[in-house]
Amino acid sequence: MTDDTLAHLLSRGAPRAPERDALEAWGRAVGAALPRPAVITLEGDLGAGKTTLARALCAGLGVDDLGAVTSPTFSLVQQYAAPAGPVVHVDLYRLRTDAELDALGWDELVATAPVLLVEWPERAAHTLPVGSIGITLQHDPGDPERRILRVSSPFQR
Ligand SMILES: Nc1ncnc2c1ncn2[C@@H]1O[C@H](COP(=O)(O)OP(=O)(O)OP(=O)(O)O)[C@@H](O)[C@H]1O
Ligand SMILES: [Mg+2]
Repeated sequence: MTDDTLAHLLSRGAPRAPERDALEAWGRAVGAALPRPAVITLEGDLGAGKTTLARALCAGLGVDDLGAVTSPTFSLVQQYAAPAGPVVHVDLYRLRTDAELDALGWDELVATAPVLLVEWPERAAHTLPVGSIGITLQHDPGDPERRILRVSSPFQR
């Protein structure tokens, strides 16, 4: 797998308004092409599909126990074993202050996680590394089975 594969998947290879199956297939391909270390942010409203996509990314990354990939809303941080090192999955929905971020050991997570998946990254936007891959999902107003997918690097300034 080359950087070209990933670059293609993140640009022209990204489906514009996928149904769930297509979003998951894309997520698995991105996960399989991901270099380490990598930070992926997942933005979007409640139910937009952030955790669904996180699970597909984990499948591509070789995580065995995909049933463990749920919204880490209460724990904030979950970690899954994968062949090339753990995948760390964070949900910052409930985060309110930078002190709570510190209590999570956030700086160390960002610096050391081989792969970091972040739901609700808006809460920690000022701390995310340059080069984070930014993914946004939105409900498709015309079709409840589809999500509008956008890929960018919003924190790359
Ligand atoms: N095209 C689609 N892509 C992703 N999910 C879809 C799609 N169509 C329907 N769904 C459904 O929408 C729901 C998305 O839930 P999910 O937990 O992934 O969202 P979320 O963005 O993580 O929400 P939260 O902010 O509550 O954590 C799932 O039940 C999924 O099956
Ligand atoms: Mg979620």
